[in-house]
Amino acid sequence: MAQKIIVTGGAGYIGSHTTVALQDAGFDVIVLDNLINSSEKSLHGVEKITGIHPEFIHVDCTDRDATRNAFKKHSDAVGVIHFAGLKAVGESVEKPLMYYRNNLDSLINVLEMMREFNIPNIVFSSSATVYGNPDILPVTEETPLKPAQSPYGQTKVMGEEIIRDMVRATPTINATLLRYFNPIGAHPSGQIGENPRGIPNNLMPYITQTAIGMREQLSIFGDDYDTDDGFCVRDYIDVNDLARAHVAALRHMINGAHGANVFNLGTGHGVSVMEMVNAFESATGVKIKYKIAPRRPGDVPAIWADATHAKRVLGWSANTPLVDTLASAWRWQQNPDAKD
Ligand code: NAD
Ligand code: UFG
Repeated sequence: MAQKIIVTGGAGYIGSHTTVALQDAGFDVIVLDNLINSSEKSLHGVEKITGIHPEFIHVDCTDRDATRNAFKKHSDAVGVIHFAGLKAVGESVEKPLMYYRNNLDSLINVLEMMREFNIPNIVFSSSATVYGNPDILPVTEETPLKPAQSPYGQTKVMGEEIIRDMVRATPTINATLLRYFNPIGAHPSGQIGENPRGIPNNLMPYITQTAIGMREQLSIFGDDYDTDDGFCVRDYIDVNDLARAHVAALRHMINGAHGANVFNLGTGHGVSVMEMVNAFESATGVKIKYKIAPRRPGDVPAIWADATHAKRVLGWSANTPLVDTLASAWRWQQNPDAKD
């Protein structure tokens, strides 16, 4: 019988792609989501891709009793992937308590339920934001963490610590902390992708929405950074590659890895904002109207991953060419049926 995985936040952007990867790998996926930043349409998209509609439980993971009911029903699960969380950096500065309440309460409830029902493995969505503005590039998992620059980032730092403490106290539970760099793109089918509500904060959806005419022009935040071309540099990782890393992390634990292990998930290459705009134009043939705007507060000039640890230990590396990732993002943007 297929092994069962509980995926909190599974209707969201990374969660829906990971659901596809898990189903492709033969796992039985149970999605828990309160749909605060997603819709069930993404799960219909998953079904179109894999032929399987994952079981969906509409639950707010900050609601302990409701979370317990969901876990009780699936107490035979071999692992949990915990995506559920709020992720808008700017909003977290405006509404810190909402972020701490949502992201930490949901994590603590999930961990409590894992203990209560003896579910042995968790994968946690952490972020490159825990490195702040690093002194040396690329960053490895040993690079010292800097004080978080937002309440959102702080929930990731604290989330990692809470999990480490819990694993130390509970040797039957193992954890993998995945520090994502900048996830972009969509499933090659165009059936699932990133569908931000309102005006996008992130570069990739802003580019695709500008390309399709929903936004007048892209504002490029800063052209005078101390980088090769003056623009901010990030490590943009294809969301399907990222999804596969979750399967690799789970298998690693199911096959006996113990304790709490941390991995950077990136390509190992930095790409500037202007390079992204140019790459999108050549991948799609669509021109992006842009203007240079002031720097965005809180942006670090440059960050990219050393991802060799994940390759060595998990046998995982990112392999989707950027041109394919940009084409998938554009295909998704042009598929109105798949969105709300
Ligand atoms: P997303 O908003 O698309 O997905 C998060 C999902 O969690 C949504 O479906 C939302 O409805 C759900 N959710 C939120 N709070 C919940 C709660 N209390 N109970 C149940 N469901 C809840 O975001 P994403 O980009 O897929 O991110 C997934 C995870 O990865 C998040 O934890 C995020 O912080 C982390 N992460 C994302 C990025 C990125 O750039 N996308 C980078 C680093 C880390
Ligand atoms: N950018 C623009 N114009 C835009 C949007 C973004 O020029 O309209 C630039 C930013 O200034 C930055 C780059 O594009 O230089 C990437 O910005 P994103 O907002 O797409 O991504 P960030 O690197 O700021 O943030 C992402 C996630 C966070 C996570 C962080 C970790 O969104 O959740 O990576 O580094 F915490």
